[in-house]
Amino acid sequence: MNESIHNSGIKIGVIGLGYVGWPLYVLLSRKFSILGLDTDENRIIKLKNSEQQCGESAELLTTNYKELSGCNVFIVCVPTGVNDDKTPDLRPLQKVCNSLGEILTPGSTVVFESTIFPGATEEFCVPLLENSSNLKFNEDFYVGYSPERINVGDDKHSLENIPKIISASNEKTLELIYNLYSSIIKAPIIKASSIKVAEATKMYENVQRDVLIALANEYAEFCKAEGISIHEVTDYASSKWNFSKVNPGLVGGHCIGVDTYYLLNRANQKFGSLPLIQCARTINETKTEKVANKIRELAKRFGARSVLLLGATYKADTSDCRNSKALEIYNILNGEFTVDCYDPLIDADRVREGHRLQVLTNPKELRDKYDLVVRLVNHADFESLNIPNSKFVDLNNLL
Ligand SMILES: NC(=O)c1ccc[n+]([C@@H]2O[C@H](COP(=O)([O-])OP(=O)(O)OC[C@H]3O[C@@H](n4cnc5c(N)ncnc54)[C@H](O)[C@@H]3O)[C@@H](O)[C@H]2O)c1
Repeated sequence: MNESIHNSGIKIGVIGLGYVGWPLYVLLSRKFSILGLDTDENRIIKLKNSEQQCGESAELLTTNYKELSGCNVFIVCVPTGVNDDKTPDLRPLQKVCNSLGEILTPGSTVVFESTIFPGATEEFCVPLLENSSNLKFNEDFYVGYSPERINVGDDKHSLENIPKIISASNEKTLELIYNLYSSIIKAPIIKASSIKVAEATKMYENVQRDVLIALANEYAEFCKAEGISIHEVTDYASSKWNFSKVNPGLVGGHCIGVDTYYLLNRANQKFGSLPLIQCARTINETKTEKVANKIRELAKRFGARSVLLLGATYKADTSDCRNSKALEIYNILNGEFTVDCYDPLIDADRVREGHRLQVLTNPKELRDKYDLVVRLVNHADFESLNIPNSKFVDLNNLL
């Protein structure tokens, strides 16, 4: 542990206490003087309750930016989604930069962890911070960018053991950020040569997955037409050293299905289209409708009057239902015939609010019999679920 950083009067404010910000806050709070801020009052109440239950101080969590006025390092973990037209929704970042301006003091550092397009930190966030604070960038305050790489629902790859990319607006700030993250992360901390390089690195990681899944989705259709299994083909191909094993699937969530749009928008503004990446995005986006069509066809073929969809989250073994394709499928089919959607893991309030649909979360709410059961998400919890006399189909069969 670097002792100097702990004696250097650092006080950290973590802004946005969701999937990314909260684990970061928890780790940092063991080593540093810290405050956590989230504008969602319910989230703060929930976190305060859980802190109290663990015997931790809940006083350090707030919705009020003024309470962060003693902090000199801010780490920003707010959402970066897309608007309906798939352009980047930068409003949360904009709000943070405007609010921070009121409390930023000379010598402070702002580190962004939210996923953003290359150039966003310096071209979008910095001017907002300068305007709102009346301080001069790289003279009075400094910035850094360190993309988060956690994988929701994946205990093996946690914040502490994923190599962390860091970048900063000058060497001294880079050193400060290095020392700060080294004190909580066991994996290597990698210094990128510039903020834009770090931003582009995160983009590339996620866009690569989007493109590879699109390839797997397209190849799955080819295999199906040839009457062979994509899974068997993938397994054999994986025995070659340089084959990247990626399964076909629905691409939802707040990361892969969203970040590619950030890149496409940036490219369009700077120099033009990225046809391969655009095509991959379209392939993955249209997969949802195709799966819904297949379920409709199956329901007709089986004369099914009641259908159960298993899973509402965007991927297995998580409660996260943001941009969930399973929910979209439920949305498409609901009303056409009797469709129930069951997911014991989801944050039901968040879903019901957003989709105005009733996702069942308690197995007791299920009917005695469904004519067709389709597993859209592979939660381990579903293994023990047994609904007698129902035809069962897995998403893999539909892809
Ligand atoms: N969840 C992941 O696995 C993951 C992984 C890598 C990167 N990311 C990126 O990290 C960022 C955060 O993602 P997340 O999953 O933690 O989102 P989240 O929705 O779980 O959490 C974000 C939190 O920020 C709060 N917030 C919104 N606007 C705010 C504001 N103006 N001031 C203060 N708080 C505000 C929200 O209330 C919410 O609690 C995004 O850019 C995302 O793309 C997420």
